Amino acid sequence: MSARRIRLGINVDHVATVRNARGGRHPDPLRAALLAVEAGADGITAHLREDRRHIVDADIERLVKEVPLPLNFEMAATDEMVDIALRHRPHAACIVPERREERTTEGGLDAAGQHNQLQPRVRRLLDAGIRVSLFIEPARRQLDAAVTLGAPVVELHTGRYCELDGAARDQELDRLRAAAADCARLGLECHMGHGLAYDNVTPVAAIPQVKELNIGHFLVGEAIFVGWTQSIAEMRRLMDAARGL
Ligand code: PXP
Repeated sequence: MSARRIRLGINVDHVATVRNARGGRHPDPLRAALLAVEAGADGITAHLREDRRHIVDADIERLVKEVPLPLNFEMAATDEMVDIALRHRPHAACIVPERREERTTEGGLDAAGQHNQLQPRVRRLLDAGIRVSLFIEPARRQLDAAVTLGAPVVELHTGRYCELDGAARDQELDRLRAAAADCARLGLECHMGHGLAYDNVTPVAAIPQVKELNIGHFLVGEAIFVGWTQSIAEMRRLMDAARGL
């Protein structure tokens, strides 16, 4: 695999959202994950929220057992979630902030402000051999906090970049670029994600230090029009093109 190629993690949360709208088993996030493998995904991401509004415990169990790709388990920094992670031993655990009332993950984890709550939980995950990633804003203070906590990976929140337009978007893109360069200096592996779509992914995928993008909601929506594997394959193509591949 070319060193320039970025990994694509497919987030299957919203396949579960559609399933849960009616109960039952359809559409099945496991089936979506298995098809994503064929469509060019390098990993699967799933967020077990405290309220289980989309992914449920049994999904995590099936994804770990049956998908031949690394699972990136998104979780809040709670003892309950750490216990679940230790039971399933996913390849990676991405710690995200979580508030019940939010519609999606709004804003990054305050790794700097929550050091004391995070530290024992990050430690337990690392001791179990799980690769810890922290979902943070592209800010130097948060990167320094990730280093202090011993997390090998950060996922930089692209939500603000995706929501803005014009000069404000360019400014946010500059923040992402600067933070990605800082990651390399600090020895952190740099991932990015949230809100990415065909019309905004290229400048992000072109940032040379980025190793992985995690993308979900847009692809599930696009699948309604073009089909699931087609929607993923087009994202894969755009990411490769951004790297000149
Ligand atoms: N990365 C993280 C840490 C997330 O919480 C989410 C949303 O669940 C994503 C990536 C994917 O975002 P989206 O569904 O907007 O592509």
